[in-house]
Amino acid sequence: MNDVLPNETPVWHYLEACLREITASYGYSEIRMPIVENTQLFCRSIGEVTDIVEKEMYTFVDKGEDSLTLRPEGTASCVRAGIQHGLLYNQQQRLWYMGPMFRRERPQKGRYRQFYQFGLESFGLKGPDIDAEIIALSARLWKTLGLNGVELQINSLGSNQAREAYKLVLVEYFEQNFEGLDADSQRRLKSNPLRILDTKNPSMKELVEKAPKLMDHLDQESKQHFDGLCEKLDLLDIAYVVNPKLVRGLDYYNRTVFEWVTNDLGAQGTICAGGRYDGLVEQLGGQATTGCGFAMGLERIVLLLQQQSRLKDKLSSKTDVYLCTLGEVAENSGIVISERLRNELPELKVQLHCGGGNFKKQLKRADKSQATIALILGEDEVEQKTVTVKYLRDNVEQSTIAQSEVGDLLQQIFSS
Ligand code: HAM
Repeated sequence: MNDVLPNETPVWHYLEACLREITASYGYSEIRMPIVENTQLFCRSIGEVTDIVEKEMYTFVDKGEDSLTLRPEGTASCVRAGIQHGLLYNQQQRLWYMGPMFRRERPQKGRYRQFYQFGLESFGLKGPDIDAEIIALSARLWKTLGLNGVELQINSLGSNQAREAYKLVLVEYFEQNFEGLDADSQRRLKSNPLRILDTKNPSMKELVEKAPKLMDHLDQESKQHFDGLCEKLDLLDIAYVVNPKLVRGLDYYNRTVFEWVTNDLGAQGTICAGGRYDGLVEQLGGQATTGCGFAMGLERIVLLLQQQSRLKDKLSSKTDVYLCTLGEVAENSGIVISERLRNELPELKVQLHCGGGNFKKQLKRADKSQATIALILGEDEVEQKTVTVKYLRDNVEQSTIAQSEVGDLLQQIFSS
């Protein structure tokens, strides 16, 4: 679990602001859900035999003997909230959320036990148009952020019936090749055979490549849905790769699944993933309503942004003006002037030196704050109602001006 340090938060703010702006422009509204839910919610939605539910949840029994879990993802909570507050029945909704999720995975670069997701979910929309639209929304984000080299992979998991029929074919194929499966896959053959396709074990690569393809066993409606999605992505000029092994690690999906993947983050290259889950609302006790959405791991996107020096300037947390005060009288005058400057120029970052000390020490602090300008107030300045303006970065002679003019001068300096 990570601390996000002050030198990193500007990147987070920038990313969050982009996300808010883009989702608003597509007509999405924010929903905020609790971090803790009843454990059963995740078992029933994500699936009992998934890595998340079997191994990764932070589950505890509270004083009222209820089994609670720190949310490992947001879709289940969003559906629960939608049902509970009557947002889904006979309606269409476009919702987004952002916040921490928890999975007890083996930590490594880009994979954490507390991580932040931005997710969005749309309800009550059946056709491939919404699948294409949410993919276009995510593509727009990469473009806005200037992220290159992210590949879109898509697949269809078909209807539940088609998938069940395909599972039988797949199990038969793997049973015939049982010796080639690793221990994990031998276990999954009974519990969750589709996940074998997702193996990262190189010794099983060939076996998995040759396995029957779900795409060849799709029901007619799912095939049409998938073709419709591809057609719309082509129209929008969004490049994609059909990956028949893409099955996702959560059980609630049907039809469209997709992932945005990069090679720039090592093993944890999926920055955004999602798909359609038309049965989930009903499965969690609501009236049948279709659903479709995705979530992205914000740490992974921040890592990618940090690798782009292009953004450095925009993202710095540096101060604009550092106000030095020499002596007790100047201290009192300084605190008043700094407040006045913040009133006059709210967009300026003004840091008042606190804690006294000699001029040299204060200037050193000013330099460390990366301020462009140091304002110096000594006894003389207080007496004459002036302030000395020192340029810390540019080769400009320092000057002493009336305190009443300092706001105008700063405005001039920082607007140019
Ligand atoms: P997910 O694939 O489990 O899907 O997670 C979505 C994204 O969250 C991943 O692609 C990755 O970027 C990020 N992520 C997952 N685990 C970690 C981790 N341990 N550390 C850092 N980042 C991580 C879901 O969660 C679904 N609820 C997505 C969805 C929404 N499907 C439909 N609607």
